[in-house]
Amino acid sequence: MFIGLDLGTSGLRALLVDDDQQTIAVSEASYDTTHAHSGWSEQDPEDWVSASQKVLRDLRHRMPSQMGQLRGLGISGHMHGATLLDRDACVLRPCIMWNDTRSAVQAAKLDSFESVRDLSGNIVFPGFTAPKLAWVAENEPEIFAKVAKVLLPKDYLTFWLTGAFTSDMSDSAGTAWLDVGKRDWSKTLLAAGDMRQDQMPRLFEGTDLVGVIRSDLASELGLPSDVAVAAGAGDNAAAACGIGALSEGDGFVSLGTSGVLLAARDNFAPQPASAVHTFCHAVPGKWYQMGVILAATDSLNWLSRNLQQSPEQLTTLLGDTLGAPGTVHFLPYLSGERTPHNDSAIRGALIGLDISSNHADLTRAVIEGVSFALRDSLEALKSTGASLDSVFAIGGGSQSRYWLELVATVLETPLHLPEKGEFGAALGAARLAICGVTGQSPEVVMTKPQISTTIMPRTELTGRYQEAYAVYRNLYPSLKGLSS
Ligand code: XUL
Repeated sequence: MFIGLDLGTSGLRALLVDDDQQTIAVSEASYDTTHAHSGWSEQDPEDWVSASQKVLRDLRHRMPSQMGQLRGLGISGHMHGATLLDRDACVLRPCIMWNDTRSAVQAAKLDSFESVRDLSGNIVFPGFTAPKLAWVAENEPEIFAKVAKVLLPKDYLTFWLTGAFTSDMSDSAGTAWLDVGKRDWSKTLLAAGDMRQDQMPRLFEGTDLVGVIRSDLASELGLPSDVAVAAGAGDNAAAACGIGALSEGDGFVSLGTSGVLLAARDNFAPQPASAVHTFCHAVPGKWYQMGVILAATDSLNWLSRNLQQSPEQLTTLLGDTLGAPGTVHFLPYLSGERTPHNDSAIRGALIGLDISSNHADLTRAVIEGVSFALRDSLEALKSTGASLDSVFAIGGGSQSRYWLELVATVLETPLHLPEKGEFGAALGAARLAICGVTGQSPEVVMTKPQISTTIMPRTELTGRYQEAYAVYRNLYPSLKGLSS
């Protein structure tokens, strides 16, 4: 038996699988995110621990004999968060999250240092970890002075479970302190941010075992005494492990809170100027690249809150079959944007509203805007040499057939829908533990799911959508001009 824990932005998901990766049980617990100021986003690490206790106890209670056979556990989590610990391993302040953009000034400064982009393979985005520490240094110097360790969110849970300060390559790649090509902490990058290597956790590949669950905790939770913990992965790398996207040509599009278009890569091929993210994969000797847009289903959720209709009610207004593009345009920059603009100050827009515009028109505009933003990510990925002939579609937005046809048509790429079942980050995390415990190779363990349907681009409409995308591309400079 193995457990994959996925520390998501809004809640924790625990997946218990048997040695053949068949789902035995799932347990979930949620926690809050606070937004004290515009652009701020924080979570209390103790809430992650409480959620972990809750799901592990729940699984133990419901599946006592299976949990008695637990051999390994892997963790994935939202990336980039700064969890700061003092020398007694006490948390110094709430975790500053991936979608927190308060450190835009510090990010731009770090990004301007020579060789930072070459070594880290990426733009230093405000969401990354290094600029968060620079913000703390400037704004909370008394806390900065006490920082003995910086842990990524999932690594705080590993510390709680094992007592060890560890991280994996895929998550550490999002700090802007890792030499992503060499898969090691970079002295130059650490020095640029006034950080020291002793403040960093020890690095492992995601499939490595980093320890066993502490004996006191194991007996408190009623778990076996020798449960191994794998180094785990950042959530996107874990999702790639869950869907079997390990090698060149494999990838997925995720319509979640944020939108991600991810391509697995056999080599390190950074192209920072494109605002593509280039990170280590969670398995040894592999990398991946992705375009990240900050508000995918978050844009539809925003519309849903304001129109007081659920996202499902809104997408139902469009039916299942894709039609021609609408005449209202939406720029999905509700929280700023990463790929391709790296612009945390920009905000969204609805353009072309008509006296007759109704809920359906607004919904179409919003999901078209998000789909065009993903096309921007595809263009950025292509500039790195990545090619995606087809991708799996995952995430909440993939429930809408209309939206899927739209994304397939806008990306001019077939979308595979996996058969019902587990294939997300929690499965990816469990698979990392399976590799670590059994010694099987990732290629054997991380197979692709069965395909239930493939959504093909609607070729008779691609010309119309290309024209609409060209209009969309021209809107960002105009919007930028308005705000600067
Ligand atoms: C990736 C990113 C998000 C978070 C939250 O760079 O910031 O995808 O990992 O899911």
